Amino acid sequence: MAHDTIVVLDFGSQYAQLIARRLREQHVYSELVPWDEPGERVLANPQVRGLVLSGGPASVYEPGAPTLPPWVLKSGLPVLGICYGMQLLAHHLGGRVAPAAAREYGPAQVEVLDPCDPLMAGFAAAAPGGRGPLPVWMSHGDRIEALPPGWHSLARSVNAPYAAMGDPGRGLYGVQFHPEVTHTPQGAALLRAFAVEVCGALADWTPANFVVESVESIRQQVGPEHVLCGLSGGVDSAVAAALLHKAIGDRLTCLFVDHGLLRQGEATQVIDTFQRHMQMRLVAINAAEAFLTDLQGVTDPEEKRRRIGNRFVRVFEEEAARIVAQWQQEAGSRPSPGAIGFLAQGTLYPDVIESASGSRERAARTIKTHHNVGGLPADMTFRLIEPLRWLFKDEVRAVGEALGLPEEIVWRHPFPGPGLAIRVLGEVTWERLETLRRADAILLEELRRAGLYRQTAQVFAVLLPVKSVGVMGDNRTYADVVALRAVTTDDFMTADWARLPYDLLARVSNRIVNEVPGVNRVVYDITSKPPGTIEWE
Ligand code: XMP
Repeated sequence: MAHDTIVVLDFGSQYAQLIARRLREQHVYSELVPWDEPGERVLANPQVRGLVLSGGPASVYEPGAPTLPPWVLKSGLPVLGICYGMQLLAHHLGGRVAPAAAREYGPAQVEVLDPCDPLMAGFAAAAPGGRGPLPVWMSHGDRIEALPPGWHSLARSVNAPYAAMGDPGRGLYGVQFHPEVTHTPQGAALLRAFAVEVCGALADWTPANFVVESVESIRQQVGPEHVLCGLSGGVDSAVAAALLHKAIGDRLTCLFVDHGLLRQGEATQVIDTFQRHMQMRLVAINAAEAFLTDLQGVTDPEEKRRRIGNRFVRVFEEEAARIVAQWQQEAGSRPSPGAIGFLAQGTLYPDVIESASGSRERAARTIKTHHNVGGLPADMTFRLIEPLRWLFKDEVRAVGEALGLPEEIVWRHPFPGPGLAIRVLGEVTWERLETLRRADAILLEELRRAGLYRQTAQVFAVLLPVKSVGVMGDNRTYADVVALRAVTTDDFMTADWARLPYDLLARVSNRIVNEVPGVNRVVYDITSKPPGTIEWE
């Protein structure tokens, strides 16, 4: 992407991605790289205008703690250190960092000492008298006790005498609080001030620009070849398909695979919506039997994902071969054999960041392999094209809107690639899938009727692998349990359980036990993420 860029060095903070997202919301393009990324790689991009050092869990004095890479200051670029990043700067430049007597986790107030400083000006604009107090979010055990020579204090809080510090002449800054979280209401203004005022970056990252540029780069990458794009009905694949279609028109063929793990009525609905709204070449096939055969006897969630991922690619390859053969038979338009060179994937930037970090430590923390990055067979014949690999989820929706996609696609709740296979806990059988489909359809119907679809991020039913005793009429029942899951989240990395109204839950529960044969109990999942995940498997 040819944009002025702020590079965020990730020192392990759970908020590191948020820094890049907040900058992009301010229309400044930003990328996230691991803290030990080689400097020559980062600086190979001549449009890097500034660096942000993220927070992190370490203490600068700990043996083995991440250090400040020497190239950072040598580059002469403006630098903003956040929390651990600030402490690193202080430590490295001759200041003093020490454990704070009172650790600060949560909301705090800072007073701005220099409201005319370019970094502080935007931040302080909203504060009474330009100085505060301003609410911020703190999360630190260590704090700066003495500034490095030549630095000034720019803000203070009760527990952090140097809540912000700077050496403005060199464009070097540090803030102890977290401007990237929404609990720091003026935080986005501060990040923007750093990017635009201090670094002089152009704020030209907009959905419309992205569309123009990616159409161009897709054309270059694809050349005269054809692309096959798997369409799941979800927003990611829809936006990827729309971009590809804009770029290469008829040389895009979308393939909708009904793997038998879809929700009630979903196949018809997706095919209908895409043919009607997007007028693309769409091939729909039903491969349910193959997928369900692969899943026979499998109960382990990762094994389910692996088998589904593999089967997906095999089905794609077979279909691609079939489509090319069919074209060859037809007179007129005839691409050369093997012309479908690319398989499009809806890989998003967070997946790219995770895989790029490549460290063993992160790999060990893999919680679930999402098959769009993890499970592709090595001997696959397609090359991958990933038009969304630079976007965060909320940016995908903005691009979808810029492309004029209908609301029902852009604002659809995400649905995992392995579909209901990871919501039928235990072995996946057609009968259990049907039970889940019925329960899930009732939940979504009632949610929409209550007008709460857009206010929730993801809502679904899960069929549990346990039976429970109940009483229906005068008879004892011993039947399945359905769990309802509803979450609110911006980024799907953390989530809270949705406080759905009791009367809605009551209606759903009542309808499920009455209308879905084989289910006699409904429970509501009230676990946030973390410690839970959104899906149960
Ligand atoms: P978790 O369960 O990890 O899910 O909190 C976060 C988001 O990812 C979706 N998800 C998947 N999507 N393949 C996908 O394409 C998968 O294997 C997969 N597992 C989870 C999940 O629905 C949620 O939106």
